[in-house]
Amino acid sequence: MTNHLFSSFKMRGMVLDNRIVVSPMAQYSADETGRAKDWHFMHLGNLAISGAGLLILEATAVEPKGRVSPNCLGLWSDNQVPCLKRIVEFARCHSNTKLGIQLAHAGRKASMSAPWQGSKGLLPEESGWDLVSASSLPYPGRPIPQQLDHIEMDKLKQHYMDAAIRADEIGFDLIELHCAHGYLLNTFLSTLSNTRKDKYGGDLQARMRYPLEVFRAIRAVWPEHKPLGVRISATDWVEGGWTIQDSVVFARELSMLGCDYIATSSGGISPNQKIPVHKGYQVPFAEEVRRATDLPSIAVGHIMDGLQAEEILTKGQADLVAIGRGMTYDPRWAWHAAELLKVKVDFPPQYARSSPAMRKLPR
Ligand SMILES: Cc1cc2nc3c(=O)[nH]c(=O)nc-3n(C[C@H](O)[C@H](O)[C@H](O)COP(=O)(O)O)c2cc1C
Repeated sequence: MTNHLFSSFKMRGMVLDNRIVVSPMAQYSADETGRAKDWHFMHLGNLAISGAGLLILEATAVEPKGRVSPNCLGLWSDNQVPCLKRIVEFARCHSNTKLGIQLAHAGRKASMSAPWQGSKGLLPEESGWDLVSASSLPYPGRPIPQQLDHIEMDKLKQHYMDAAIRADEIGFDLIELHCAHGYLLNTFLSTLSNTRKDKYGGDLQARMRYPLEVFRAIRAVWPEHKPLGVRISATDWVEGGWTIQDSVVFARELSMLGCDYIATSSGGISPNQKIPVHKGYQVPFAEEVRRATDLPSIAVGHIMDGLQAEEILTKGQADLVAIGRGMTYDPRWAWHAAELLKVKVDFPPQYARSSPAMRKLPR
């Protein structure tokens, strides 16, 4: 019987050993200049030997104002290159896991404390900063953001391009553009956050315009053989907001610009969202994008184990599965999935004797 989860997958010049993706997860643990620290070395080094086919680094800000917290990772300066290069080189030495980075701007949801400090909004006098967004409509409870004008939007596009060039210099295999979770590019897409009167606001075509321009700009500087995908919030989960049908239209436009996949997350634009969380609750979005477009999709959210992941792939609901919290809870998630599916996978030689096959009790 063919196994799907442990079959390889090709995107442009990148070949993944299997369909397991470590989902991007912010660590709020960079230094105050956006540089990765030892925590990242440990966290990503560990996940790089998890056996996943692809590891996507956390939301990484393309300018200081784009960080969620003062300790989020950044790629707006050459000073941020060496610390990430060290991590990528370590991973290359010890595993065949491919490495991606998520480029992001938190927009009107920026300038917060870390979750373990209460995710509180930080004012400029508390090491926070002024917010920017598609419109001057605040996220409820947060300060009024400044609506970006065209000159600032052009500058920001350049920041995305510069970050992509640095990502290539570091040696990343893939970029994921963050258009989800109520962050800056997501605020352009949704009517709940975009009230602009210019060519970037109004109907769906206009609201998609800036995220598509940013995508095109990154694609222009990112090497041809390297994949560029997009994470979207497939629905706002709010009446009158962004829907899966809008996502399909957006995905088709992205496909025409050379997008390599869509990762279908959801929500984040409004606290009024009503999310029916259950096992695999976002999988139907990955399925719909895959069905209605020619793009591969990544399913994410409450994918609990290898059996569920295999079923998603077997049913053709997604091409890849991304695992977030399950991976940090159990960085050997992929090994356990292999055991469940009776597939033999390679362990790093240092750990080879820990495989169940190598520690059978004598009869
Ligand atoms: C600690 C933490 C940090 C996260 N940071 C990001 C992020 O940087 N970018 C992103 O797109 N999603 C982020 N997410 C969402 C995850 O990538 C994932 O979509 C979500 O946790 C659902 O998948 P799961 O049920 O497998 O955890 C984060 C989630 C967690 C728990």
